[in-house]
Amino acid sequence: MSKNCTGACRLVLRADEKRYLIVMSVVSKYNRIAPVYELIDLPLELLFFRRWREEALSCLSGKVLEVGIGTGRNLKHYSLRCSVTGIDYSEKMLEKARKKATDMNNVTLILMDAENLEFPDNSFDYVVITFVLCSIPDPVKALKEMRRVLKPSGEMIAIEYVRSNNRLIACFEDLVNPVICSLSGDNMNRKSIENIRTAGFTIREVEDLIYEDFFKKARAKP
Ligand SMILES: C[S@@+](CC[C@H](N)C(=O)[O-])C[C@H]1O[C@@H](n2cnc3c(N)ncnc32)[C@H](O)[C@@H]1O
Repeated sequence: MSKNCTGACRLVLRADEKRYLIVMSVVSKYNRIAPVYELIDLPLELLFFRRWREEALSCLSGKVLEVGIGTGRNLKHYSLRCSVTGIDYSEKMLEKARKKATDMNNVTLILMDAENLEFPDNSFDYVVITFVLCSIPDPVKALKEMRRVLKPSGEMIAIEYVRSNNRLIACFEDLVNPVICSLSGDNMNRKSIENIRTAGFTIREVEDLIYEDFFKKARAKP
């Protein structure tokens, strides 16, 4: 606590305290919307996302880390050749994922911060993220952690919302972003592909999915 010249009190937070508050505000949004999360984008899920998840994940095998697993929508798309560790920082989202994983012996779910992954270096064959970089407060920090825990031979697979290169769509994203972000914690206009590069990954493939380049799938090497 500090006082300015008028004598008013001002709370001075350290950087780590500020970061903790920002992360917790995102987590509490997800805890709040967890009961209705799967209803919010159900039309998009049925029309597009489900197919993209299946195409990206059904061929994987080995040790998979899914970061920001949410309610576990991806779980049914992994084959039994995968040993899946799913992490999320929202207990309420994880609760939903736990229900889906009840009979899945190859799945472990853990409450964990993506920006501080509690795994040794070179642990996983794949890191999977779907619609996650838009919500993590410091996506580059989280991506560096993902890169650290990937084996050198491993691969990251991402399906993400991104800021479009189309100026009209980008304007629309900027316009609706404050509303979407305050409701759900999702930023629709992040430069996630650039963030993946900034974290040190080598991008092997980027595919535009729909709506010009609003949704992208990327594959990257650590
Ligand atoms: C938009 S949801 C996506 C959920 C899921 N991947 C899917 O495809 O439906 C984003 C998820 O990221 C999680 N998340 C946000 N920040 C996080 C952090 N710092 N650490 C771990 N998970 C985080 C949220 O709790 C939420 O479950």
